[in-house]
Amino acid sequence: MEENKKRLTTASGKPYVEDENSMSIGARGPLLLQDFILHEKMAHFNRERIPERVVHAKGSGAFGTFTVTHDISKYTKAKIFNKIGKETKMFARFSTVGGEKGSADTERDPRGFALKFYTEDGNWDLVGNNTPVFFIKDPKKFSDFIHTQKRDPRTNCKSPTMMWDFWSLNPESLHQVMILMSDRGTPHGFRHMHGFGSHTFSMINAKNERVWVKFHFETQQGIKNFTGDDAGEMKGKDPDFAQRDLVDAIDRKDFPKWDLKIQVMTDEQAKQFPFNPFDLTKVWPHGDFPLIDVGVMELNQIPKNYFADVEQSAFAPAHVVDGIGYSHDKMLQGRLLSYPDAHRYRLGVNFEQIPVNQCPYMVANYERDGLMAVNGNGEDAPNYNPNSFDDIEIDQAYKEPPIQLDSTLADWYDRNGENDNDHYTQPGLLFTKAMNDYDRHNLVSNIVDAMSGITGPKKDLIINRQLCHFFRANPNLGTAVAKGLNVDLDEVMKAMKHE
Ligand code: HEM
Repeated sequence: MEENKKRLTTASGKPYVEDENSMSIGARGPLLLQDFILHEKMAHFNRERIPERVVHAKGSGAFGTFTVTHDISKYTKAKIFNKIGKETKMFARFSTVGGEKGSADTERDPRGFALKFYTEDGNWDLVGNNTPVFFIKDPKKFSDFIHTQKRDPRTNCKSPTMMWDFWSLNPESLHQVMILMSDRGTPHGFRHMHGFGSHTFSMINAKNERVWVKFHFETQQGIKNFTGDDAGEMKGKDPDFAQRDLVDAIDRKDFPKWDLKIQVMTDEQAKQFPFNPFDLTKVWPHGDFPLIDVGVMELNQIPKNYFADVEQSAFAPAHVVDGIGYSHDKMLQGRLLSYPDAHRYRLGVNFEQIPVNQCPYMVANYERDGLMAVNGNGEDAPNYNPNSFDDIEIDQAYKEPPIQLDSTLADWYDRNGENDNDHYTQPGLLFTKAMNDYDRHNLVSNIVDAMSGITGPKKDLIINRQLCHFFRANPNLGTAVAKGLNVDLDEVMKAMKHE
């Protein structure tokens, strides 16, 4: 055997010889039960699949570096931002949302934009999308919403009827629906789109002062989208378009980069803001809350093994670090629970010990045992707290400042704050101010295309109800979509009066 080659072995390390022919009695069989190699190969293969993510199952990942370019220490004491020029290793996973693991990359869908920064104070996960808003603003609606994006229970096909039924019954979705139906719903791979933390988060500085913050990642590659038709064609040509595009770019050292910027709002400003600043269906106007430069993220390494790092990566909005905190955003609060719960189901209770998820710095606590405890399991150190033997200390410097809340525990379902139910102003501005004629034309044609798939006895009800929302955002939008669908405008007007 050549010296620089590895010997073929079983998983337990026993070198063996016969890897292709099963052990048999005579050249033509039958097989022997004692062929352990055959058992091992078949049994391991049978267990190759783990549950795919219930959402965002199809994705691509890469390692990279975050570099600080501007001083934001007046807002945050987070160590990742504490010095201009500082570099932090990170991992990114981009994804579509509704499709299964084998679905096409150019489906009309929001794109996941999940980032993990390996900071000295622990891993910071920013689990965002390529859109600054979302379809709903209460986590109780999430599973219902996602069911409408998946398959019809009877036909096992995607159902425009379910999607538009839900959206038309939940007008808070309009802002995100309009972004989704624009060409931003079919980005040209993952390199040419912005990323957003989407929620309102908080930052805390060295004086323990808190501000509210939104995170924006602006692509340096420039925005580039497919038209609806081109995206449809690409599904057949190359369903893995975005994966291939990312791998090819990094392989040819054309490393994609994004500029991190933040918007900052003081608590005083939050109290004066015309909308609820913690409402995930709304944006903070850039005119009032300008973007502040922070740093640059560069992706420069494709993982050597997709399953090991991309499939097993686990991001959680709950993973913030000192100097970065949560906010009252109800959706964020719901997500704090959901993700680690999903990881425990998908990857097991010790998912943080998988290399891509591991904090490369000190981790010290009293959590022990469980499936796949592979990091030494705390060795012989005490496994309870308090104890008299420990070298673990609680560092009070990491205590978060309190938040004063003046409210009552009550039934808030139909008692939202002022303007909380204005679902139309920002979608209207998106249509008139943010979009140009080309964008508006494609938006209308994509909506007409998508709504043409609504079928069944409730078809007219659903179409008219959704058209009312488009009219309320902007009459020209409502008229154009109604015309495209050949709907009688008088019927829509009647429907609007009844609502
Ligand atoms: C993935 C739940 C809203 C972005 C997931 C997963 C769950 C989930 C269970 C699969 C996690 C896994 O198995 O690894 C929820 C719930 C939400 C919500 C309950 C609302 C209450 C959002 C929002 C965003 C978002 C608002 C973006 C702003 C993502 C991303 C992933 C993901 C990017 C994929 C992460 C990865 O690449 O591994 N979500 N989600 N989700 N979610 Fe959400």
